[in-house]
This record gives sequence, structure tokens and C-alpha cells, in this order.
Amino acid sequence: MRLSVEPSGRLEFGPGVLAGLPGFVAELGHDRAFVITDRGLRATGIVGRVERTLAAAGLAHEVHEDVGPNPSTVELDRGAARLRGFGNAVVVALGGGSALDAAKGISVLAGNPDAVAADADTLWSAADGLPIVAVPTTAGTGAETNGFGVVEDLHVRRKVYIGHSSVLPRIAVLDPELTLGLPAPVTASTGLDALVHGIESLASRGANPVSAAYATQAVSMVSRWLPVAYRDGADLEARSRLMLGAHLAGRALTLSGLGLVHGIGHALTARTGTPHGVALAAVLEEVMTFSAPAAASAYETAARAMGVSTVDGGGADAAIAAVREISGSIGIKRPLRELGVTREMLPAIAEAAVADAVTKNSPRLPAPAEVLDLLQAVH
Ligand SMILES: [Fe+2]
Repeated sequence: MRLSVEPSGRLEFGPGVLAGLPGFVAELGHDRAFVITDRGLRATGIVGRVERTLAAAGLAHEVHEDVGPNPSTVELDRGAARLRGFGNAVVVALGGGSALDAAKGISVLAGNPDAVAADADTLWSAADGLPIVAVPTTAGTGAETNGFGVVEDLHVRRKVYIGHSSVLPRIAVLDPELTLGLPAPVTASTGLDALVHGIESLASRGANPVSAAYATQAVSMVSRWLPVAYRDGADLEARSRLMLGAHLAGRALTLSGLGLVHGIGHALTARTGTPHGVALAAVLEEVMTFSAPAAASAYETAARAMGVSTVDGGGADAAIAAVREISGSIGIKRPLRELGVTREMLPAIAEAAVADAVTKNSPRLPAPAEVLDLLQAVH
């Protein structure tokens, strides 16, 4: 075996670590910060807290609050125009996965004066973007562990990957206090996403011992603490462990890739706007059952990480049962018809899921007809 592993960026984790933000910006050689955040995050008080922290340290800053739940190339171009006007700075990516994804694209565009987001495919070899400090406010996506984002190209109505090695966040600031106020459904959706990252990473064709080390620990922490954080959002220990587990899951998937659960999840969200984690939950056990013949050892590892016994070689069954229990305890699994999916949409969703690049790492490669069967069973 040969392995070449790029390290992720620096991690600063712990309750209250946000207070160090001005110092992190300064360590990257800048005295200016351009904050990119979700529309609506201000209402939580977090944006104001970041502004006060930067202002108290005398850092010039501007806040760009123009990122929606599924960011588009148009939003990225708007953000890049504003950042170019602000000038050279550290980009502080503040919010959920959408804000972090958008910030990476905006940062690349700002480093390339004539580029537009619709050129996403050519930007991978463009000039460097501005350096990013990522401050996630949810525990799940792992977007702070990689240098690309998924955005919607409104002109051709498809998801595009936009990124560059230079916009891998230099520092991930993981402050679990920022997640204390997350509503339970958001905790469930983002946390389930992290659990799926761990499980799909373990079973991925791209898995290796390094990704598996991250993924195993991630599955252990997320499975243990997600139900606790869901029941009591004010439990700081649960919030902390869940956030760190989700980060490790992000490191795992960045190294290994994912699989069919995400292929289907992307297709569902693109057509119905269903939150990412809810879309994944709708098919998770069913995809695991489909994949089990090719993923016995990975699922046995997952089952052990979730603390369930795997006697008689029944690792896959045990893992699937454990996942069903977690999913049930956070009330996230719903039939597709309740997510706005009609029977007529299923063939196109199956086709899109198989065509999604993420599906190529599935342990058992599906044909569209097999995915269609699976979708009909959960409709
Ligand atoms: Fe995900």
C-alpha cells in the first residue's frame, strides 16, 4: 500500500474559542476581515458577537450576509464583487455548510479578478483565493475540512463544485457554544449528516487506514452524542462531542469520498429543497442493506463504533439496526412522499443519483433500476 495524505487545516476547538478570532486573523498576516455568513444568522446573536469580537481588537471588517440555504453562482458573483471592493483580507466563513461553501467560492473568485462562478470547472487551477478562517455554527457538514463547495448554477440548473487548494480553511474555529441555540430539527439534520459521513467513509472505495481512523472515531462520537444533543440542546458536553465528531467525519470524507446515500440525497434536495440530513435519513438503512454484501467489514467496524454487538458475523445487520434506532430517536426518517417527492419524479432521481460523482465511491455500484426499486420502497 502507498498513501499520500494531505493534512487538513489547523483546528482550534473548545467552548469560548471564538474569542481568539482576532488573533487567528492576525496570525495569517492580516488586519482586516471579511465575514461571509448566512442570511438569518444575525437573529441568533452570533453575527453581532463576531462583530464585537473583531471591533474590540481594532480589526477593520465588513459583514456580507447574502448567502441563502442553497447558494447559487449568482450569489457567489455578488459576494466576490463586494470582497474585491473591500480588498485584501482574511475571509471569515461563519455559519452552516452553505455559508462555508459560499465563502470558499467567493474567496477563489476574489483572487481572480476576471473570474465568474459559472467558470467553476476551470478555477481549480486558477490563482490562489484569499485565506479562510472557518467558524461553523452547526455540527455536521464538515465543510471546514476541505477546499471546495457545492453551489447551484442557476443558468444550467445543476450543482457545481467550486474550489481551490488555497481555500481549504487555514484554521477551523470550532466553538460548541455557537451550537447551543440550534433548534432540535437542525441538530437532527446536521448531526445525521455527520453520522452518514462516517459510515459512508468507512464503506467507501476510497477508504484507507487514515480515513478509517477518523471515520471510526467520528461514528463513535456522533452516534453516542447526537441523541443527547437532540434531547437537550443546552447540554454543552453533548454539543462539544457532537461538534468534534462531525469535524472528524469531515476529515474522513475528505480523504475517502462518500457513496450512494449522498448521491440520492443530493438528487432529492435538488428537486424538493429537503434539508440535506433529512434527505439522507430517508434512504440510509435501505442503501446500507443494498450495499451490505460489498461492505460487511466496514459495517462491522461501524457497528462496533456505535457500541452494538456484532456476534455471528452479523455486523451489517447490527449496524443497520443501530442506525435505525438513532434515526428513530431524533425523529428524522420520513417517507419520500412526505418530502414532496411524487412517484413520477422517482426515475429521474434514480438517474441523477447514479450519475452523481459521489456515488462512484459506493461499495456496491448501483444501476438506475436498482436505485428506483429502493426509492419506491421508501416512497
Ligand atoms: Fe453530507
